[in-house]
Amino acid sequence: MNPEFAYLSEIDTGKGNLIKGLQLVQEREGYVSDDAIRAVAEHFSMADVEVEGVLTFYAQFKRTQPGKYKISACDGTACHIKGASLIQEWLNTALGIKDGETTPDGLFSISTVACLGCCSLAPVMAVNGRVFGKLDRKSLLKIINDYKKQG
Ligand code: FES
Repeated sequence: MNPEFAYLSEIDTGKGNLIKGLQLVQEREGYVSDDAIRAVAEHFSMADVEVEGVLTFYAQFKRTQPGKYKISACDGTACHIKGASLIQEWLNTALGIKDGETTPDGLFSISTVACLGCCSLAPVMAVNGRVFGKLDRKSLLKIINDYKKQG
């Protein structure tokens, strides 16, 4: 077993716990890498391809490493009405990536989420949990540039 994933031993090796195991990996690593798939398969005495099959079935699992700055673009009802699709478009253009992707330098990733719980500030996005509201193109680009400068 790859020592990096030794924490899998917290979970019983019964195949019924496979989802639990994958959830634990995602919680610890932020995504499920190829190495993690091999470790999980070994832990549950399954073939790698079986684990991959389960992963592709459940949208909750991420296969790519999230960026240092995880952008959650809200597409809940209030934000949707206030132009969430424009926010997504501006992000895509500014960063050169789409929803679910990570920039090649590993700095940013984008994921669309449902309501972030601050609808009165719509349209909203969060970066590593910090919420930015009443976004327009100018404020959004400034936020991205500020994070870029931090590197
Ligand atoms: S819908 Fe976006 S914060 Fe609620």
